[in-house]
Amino acid sequence: MKLEGKVALVTGSSQGIGQGIVLRLAQEGADVVINYRSHPEGAEETLAKVQAIGGKCYMAQCPNSHGYTIQADLGSVSEVRQLIADSIDHFGKLDILVNNAGIEKHAPFWEITEANYDAVMNVNLKGVFFATQAFVQHLMTTKRPGKIINISSVHEELPFPNFTAYCVSKGGMKMLTRNLAVELGALGITINNVAPGAIETPINTKLLNDPEKLGALLNNIPLNRLGQPQDVASLVAFLASSDADYITGSTFFVDGGLLWNYKEQ
Ligand code: BGC
Repeated sequence: MKLEGKVALVTGSSQGIGQGIVLRLAQEGADVVINYRSHPEGAEETLAKVQAIGGKCYMAQCPNSHGYTIQADLGSVSEVRQLIADSIDHFGKLDILVNNAGIEKHAPFWEITEANYDAVMNVNLKGVFFATQAFVQHLMTTKRPGKIINISSVHEELPFPNFTAYCVSKGGMKMLTRNLAVELGALGITINNVAPGAIETPINTKLLNDPEKLGALLNNIPLNRLGQPQDVASLVAFLASSDADYITGSTFFVDGGLLWNYKEQ
């Protein structure tokens, strides 16, 4: 097991890619903090799945449980700081931060409201920024190395009409990663982006229910299928492990070839 003895926090892990990452990190032996904003039942489901893998019990009955859920809105800096502090309190330390929580809002550019812009930027960029800062402060205080993995998107590179705030947030995440790779390298802290394409998760519910749009999207994916959360999670587990000690400041695409596909119709 690659992550025995490590403690990881995965933001937004009550569903989708975040839930897949929690399961994979737990399979590799890590203790994992599960975070949710508005789906406690999803967080409980993630926790139950962790327990099913490791036969570990829920925190309330077992203080040495390998799973722990915390409610926090990544769009609020005070809640983000509290989330990091609670995770450290619970497991005694943190080694791995997976900034997974993210939202998107569909609207043509000329109709985007300030509230929607703020919601997207606060969760996708500001929350990531300050979660990472609090994590780095903890590593500095305890004089330990650590690993930061951001779940970005193909849209840190690729335009996505009608999702401009989302693209801006992911482009910002790309530069956050590059900047921090340089600034944190001397501290033994690595930071990388995993950039999924179209993954079969709740963020894509609308698309999944629209056969015409789904067909057009599949036609653009050379591997001709949607990705699954485990396709993303396996790369995260690698980047979180010591096998990836020399890797920092990079983005890795998990998109079935979507990003570089150009076809004349
Ligand atoms: C978005 C999805 C989109 C996918 C591929 C992801 O970042 O969250 O809505 O389908 O990129 O375009």
